[in-house]
Amino acid sequence: MSQTIALYINGLNVRFGGFAAITDLTLEIRYGESRALIGPNGAGKTTLMDVITGKTRPNSGEVFLDRKLDLATRGEAEIARSGIGRKFQKPSVFEALPVAQNLELAVRRGLGWGEMVMSRLSVAQRERIEEVLVTIGLQEDRQRKAAELSHGQKQWLEIGMLLVAEPKVLLLDEPVAGMTEAESERTVELIASLRSPDRAIVVVEHDMEFVDRVADLVSVLHEGRLLGEGSMQAVRTNPKVIQVYLGR
Ligand SMILES: Nc1ncnc2c1ncn2[C@@H]1O[C@H](COP(=O)(O)OP(=O)(O)OP(=O)(O)O)[C@@H](O)[C@H]1O
Ligand SMILES: [Mg+2]
Repeated sequence: MSQTIALYINGLNVRFGGFAAITDLTLEIRYGESRALIGPNGAGKTTLMDVITGKTRPNSGEVFLDRKLDLATRGEAEIARSGIGRKFQKPSVFEALPVAQNLELAVRRGLGWGEMVMSRLSVAQRERIEEVLVTIGLQEDRQRKAAELSHGQKQWLEIGMLLVAEPKVLLLDEPVAGMTEAESERTVELIASLRSPDRAIVVVEHDMEFVDRVADLVSVLHEGRLLGEGSMQAVRTNPKVIQVYLGR
């Protein structure tokens, strides 16, 4: 592969007290790719996303965006503004607000309270919201309260709230957990539609069929270490991976 590296992670270590959550992790994720991170519970997948987004500071090692922005030293807000969008494991939309208003709030994310209340959306921002409503398949549901959406629709709305900012790195933590098969199927299509030469997508999932369909490359974590990496086919037949994860 010759694409530019989006995320460069080298020799990363994260400890919580005496517990090693991530140990000597080295990983390169390129623009244009869709990467899956898999591994048993507690493997360090969410912790890695926490480090990339500035929520958790590593004890040592390098974490760079575009080879130049040192994510280990930047705050969460700055990292988000620099183009890294992250969906947490639990959906966190504003249930009491209509779908469209959730997206409007996402457009205004990062503004102070005063600006948030006062500012009007630009034409470009309104157009972007319309585009995103179509992408996430919720244009008919724009006026419905988020609370009334199905679990799957809430997850798509949350992805939409990231898309308004046109992130170049999209981190999705267990996007199909709790979804019906049909919703999961639709999410495969959604993620495929988000792929672009200017974007890197990183998906954490336990659903291997889903991983097989969305990812070009799979990195397997186990107890904070990289256990294997390659195509789903290569990872599936890797004896170490079978032993700790897939063979269960
Ligand atoms: N803030 C924290 N303080 C202490 N321990 C933590 C903290 N965050 C995570 N851990 C521990 O680090 C390990 C890795 O957790 P992490 O959430 O990254 O796992 P995961 O791979 O996302 O697992 P899952 O598939 O269950 O979501 C776990 O043992 C967890 O208990
Ligand atoms: Mg997790």
